[in-house]
Amino acid sequence: MSNRTFTMIKPDAVRAGNIGNILQMITDAGFKIVAMKYLHITTAQAEKFYEVHASRPFYGELTQFMSSGPIVAAILEKENAVADFRKLIGATNPAQAEEGTIRKKYAASLGENAVHGSDSDENAKIEGEFYFSGIEQF
Ligand code: CMP
Repeated sequence: MSNRTFTMIKPDAVRAGNIGNILQMITDAGFKIVAMKYLHITTAQAEKFYEVHASRPFYGELTQFMSSGPIVAAILEKENAVADFRKLIGATNPAQAEEGTIRKKYAASLGENAVHGSDSDENAKIEGEFYFSGIEQF
């Protein structure tokens, strides 16, 4: 069990003005921000980040959306970070997300679901290293 996970506040939530609200929910839940960036990725970068989904029918839609505007990328630290963060964000489809979760509050649809959270310790490390070098993590 690792104590780090990786998140992105996606373009829909940034456009809706919810960066502050979402970061507040994250820190209120006991996560420490150990790295953070505000950036607009290219479609090619989104394709690289989500390459595990390359064969899925939604890959084009997903990578266009993720490169449609700025995002906030961050590495978060807490005991049991991956599982606890997935609980905090709620189900991938906001229609199934529980009350009080970030996606229930701020996500509109399966494709535009406000936040990303790593699904395993292994992917948390890969995803964090996609955005941050060692000297950018505190
Ligand atoms: P995320 O946690 O960022 O990881 C992969 C993303 O693909 C997921 O959130 C969803 O936003 C998106 N996704 C999953 N299924 C679909 C779908 N059927 N249509 C569009 N996007 C999807």
